[in-house]
Amino acid sequence: DLGGGRRKDGLNFTAVAPNTEDRVVVPDGYEQSVVIRWGDPVLPGAPKFDFDRQTAAAQAGQFGYNNDFCGLVPLGWGDRWLMVSNHEYTTEEFMFKGWRADATTREQVEIAWAAHGMSVVLVERDRRSGRLVAKVDRRYNRRVTVKSEFRLTGPAAGSDLLKTSADPTGTRVLGTLNNCAGGVTPWGTILSGEENFNQYFANAGSVTDPVAKQRLSRYGLSGGASQRRWEEFDERFDVAREPNEVNRFGWVVEIDPLDPGSTPVKHTALGRFKHEGANVIIARDGRVVAYMGDDERFDYMYKFVSDERYKPGSSKHAREHNRKLLDRGTLYVAKFRGDSPAAEFDGSGGLPSDGEFDGTGEWIPLASGNRSFVPGFTAEEVYVFTRLAADAVGPTKMDRPEDVEPNPRNRRVYAALTNNTDRGKAGKEGATEPNPRVGNRHGHVLELEERRGDNTATAFSWKLLLVCGDPNSADTYFGGYDKSQVSPISCPDNVAFDSRGNLWISTDGNALGSNDGLFAIPVEGRYRGRVKQFLTVPRGAETCGPVVEDDFVLVSVQHPGEVDGASADTPLSHWPDGGATQPRPAVVAAWKKDKGRICG
Ligand code: FEO
Ligand code: CA
Ligand code: CA
Ligand code: CA
Repeated sequence: DLGGGRRKDGLNFTAVAPNTEDRVVVPDGYEQSVVIRWGDPVLPGAPKFDFDRQTAAAQAGQFGYNNDFCGLVPLGWGDRWLMVSNHEYTTEEFMFKGWRADATTREQVEIAWAAHGMSVVLVERDRRSGRLVAKVDRRYNRRVTVKSEFRLTGPAAGSDLLKTSADPTGTRVLGTLNNCAGGVTPWGTILSGEENFNQYFANAGSVTDPVAKQRLSRYGLSGGASQRRWEEFDERFDVAREPNEVNRFGWVVEIDPLDPGSTPVKHTALGRFKHEGANVIIARDGRVVAYMGDDERFDYMYKFVSDERYKPGSSKHAREHNRKLLDRGTLYVAKFRGDSPAAEFDGSGGLPSDGEFDGTGEWIPLASGNRSFVPGFTAEEVYVFTRLAADAVGPTKMDRPEDVEPNPRNRRVYAALTNNTDRGKAGKEGATEPNPRVGNRHGHVLELEERRGDNTATAFSWKLLLVCGDPNSADTYFGGYDKSQVSPISCPDNVAFDSRGNLWISTDGNALGSNDGLFAIPVEGRYRGRVKQFLTVPRGAETCGPVVEDDFVLVSVQHPGEVDGASADTPLSHWPDGGATQPRPAVVAAWKKDKGRICG
């Protein structure tokens, strides 16, 4: 039953059917509109977008490219928020007609630098229409780009491993790269994960020192020229010339949108890997716990527990205290154990004989402040080369951990494991209870419960909530719910919760042949596991950044039109502007026509 009707979980909309349309499709009775799109002015004085005459100066004041995470920080008066968007990456062949890597110009590179980073935009809800409107606000709006200054904080700040010729202090970095997902902290700042930063750095292949080479290769750095050729325009992107610059990316960054003059920071205490994002919950004792995924096939899940306690309130004193919470604490990596015999996991994905993919696990400490728990690694090495340190303690290799997010209603943690088509391939790990399919194309969702509900605990239990894919296929599992009554879902990526604690998941790379979308799933009671599709995004796009408020939903529509054979010369999507226009990544709001509650 994918229809409406009143339910305890409040999810009363009628599911959207899978489709391949070049538009955003929302349930009957709902509306949607673009809030802001690539090239729209963010800063006062920024020009109107002109695809054929784009400049770096214009882009530096406009909304960047390929927005991924989206977060709202309430301004505390009226229906107004500061909306923070990550601009994960640029796709030059969609941004410039006739683009070629070997003929890239300085202006194109400078446009790409300005199109990366983050945007802070004041948004306001128009009560009459229900629409969310972006404002060009003089006080709060902000663009962060590859040229913006960041401060490194925490135990590895100032380390020799982070010093460069431009920054002999090892504490000041220009820019943030490949900002994927993120989270809003309880103290009103935004965390954002630097993910596939390796792609921007050239010439790792020319490094011969075995230790340096191993460190680079564990982070996916090898070979010669980078795909965008930035090293030809700024030598810090050339590993052979500036070996430590790459160590200054791959962090969780924190920005305070309510303090527009503040310098954003990179938190070394949260470790360096391909950070999908970070999401914080306040534990019962007041300490804060950040959950994180390293989005790579066979990589790990992490958490950080602060030493100090959260101070409630919005006083200057409390805000300054809370902004330092992620600088001191303990970093852990996750090890999962299944409770069913290993022989029951032949990779087909069928349920084990006890009827659940489930078990227990532990958080293995890696470092705390200046103290390392990993033999052979100093604390600084644990933070800067976290993947290698984690390898040494035997954590569980997961199927691409993307968002890992605590549910504030039940304190359980939900991890989107997007897919891993390499599982079970020659020389690679096979199926395990927490990652039960070989050639995993559709991904799964894991639910973790800390011992006694204490988010600072080092022991936990876990179960798979969803094994995604076609509900008609024997290798899928929908929390035990009747599979004839659910929406198909593939490649879970970002996670959010509504005020009732229902899980919302956006997808990236739907391997079932239809467009990506956003789904709502009750996690308690008789409807647990009933996946219902709330919206779909246009052709070639990924759905990300979901924000679920009581009366509207925001999604990022990232890389619309990114399908095989498409480019700016032959666009295969014309969303959102229609006609013969180029596709433009954008933030979209959806709301109920009667302006009622979405989660009723
Ligand atoms: Fe940028 Fe892991 O998605
Ligand atoms: Ca089991
Ligand atoms: Ca993602
Ligand atoms: Ca993704």
